[in-house]
Amino acid sequence: SRTYFSGIQPTGVPHLGNYLGALRNWVKLQREAKPNDTLYFSVVGWHALTLPQDRNALLKAQTDMVALLLAVGLDPERSIIFHQNQNPDHLELAWYLNCITPVGKLRRMTTWKGRLADARNANDESEVDDSLLNTGLFTYPVLQAADILLYKATHVPVGEDQQQHIELSRDLADSLNRQLGAHNKEFRRTFPLPEAVYTPSKRILSLRDPSSKMSKSSPFEQSRILLTDKPEAIKSKIRKAVTDSNSEIAYDPINRPGTANLLTILAACEDAQPEQVAERYAGKDHGILKADVIDAILELLRRPREEYERLIQARDYLDRIVEGGLFKARSASGKVMRTVRDRLGMLAIP
Ligand code: TYM
Repeated sequence: SRTYFSGIQPTGVPHLGNYLGALRNWVKLQREAKPNDTLYFSVVGWHALTLPQDRNALLKAQTDMVALLLAVGLDPERSIIFHQNQNPDHLELAWYLNCITPVGKLRRMTTWKGRLADARNANDESEVDDSLLNTGLFTYPVLQAADILLYKATHVPVGEDQQQHIELSRDLADSLNRQLGAHNKEFRRTFPLPEAVYTPSKRILSLRDPSSKMSKSSPFEQSRILLTDKPEAIKSKIRKAVTDSNSEIAYDPINRPGTANLLTILAACEDAQPEQVAERYAGKDHGILKADVIDAILELLRRPREEYERLIQARDYLDRIVEGGLFKARSASGKVMRTVRDRLGMLAIP
């Protein structure tokens, strides 16, 4: 049997990239899972705190995210939906993993290198060192590995941008297994090595700057489509999406990322390949393509948005769902942590 684990940060309403790159795939896996598979989907508040967050916005975002997960089709009868930051076992396991993670490995993480580059740009310096960045950002991937190992997950459905993090999780599972198995060979198989399950659709790019991915942290609202956007907002954002001056439509992600991004989105909505979709637009222009992209997104997001509007009114129901999810999550992780403490030589918690 398989155990799926994935997480999403409560840093605002998810965008089209989150939906096409991850959430929609979670729902698909839920539908296709075997009866004895287990699925965990977690709202990872501790990860969100690696960047500055407004207290009130953060509180709201955590509940909103649960409403959204249900709105897109996750079923609490089938999937365990819970808040990571209500289960302290994540932090304890993250600590044990921190103690066996080489600093050099974390320095090579592209997310970390990206943060360093941002800091350099902000300070207008080419040689800013890492002394101004917080340690949480640095060790973020270790906490992510802890999330995954804590439930002995075998499969991790994520977007391609998470590849390096999943590879680190595998390395850390292997290192921890060796540590736990120092006195007993059988303990070297305590944790399965988790496998990434990538979403078939490619990464979705920013509508304003197609050289970067669509992201929640960009200051430009025009750069992303939110799952809760009203039809008018969706129309305006797609119409203004940056393409290029070449009026032909062709799928060329390297040289024409803006146009390719629209084709990727349309293909994802239709469960087709962008190359095939592009063929339909021979001799047509961006205006026609954009009109079709708008229609496809409106249709894709109509149900989730309606469901979200309904669920967000049902606060008690949402609270009950995550309470039930937390209970199941803690039962599973508690057992794993008792084993880990024992095999590491840490005193049991009375
Ligand atoms: P987060 O919250 O940034 O994103 C959630 C999911 O959305 C995918 N995604 C995208 N896919 C396609 N195009 C995009 N533009 C795009 N932007 C985001 C991400 O790949 C992700 O699957 N580190 C994780 C959260 C996390 C996690 C975990 C995931 C914490 N612990 C354990 C899996 C397992 C993150 O930053 O997700």
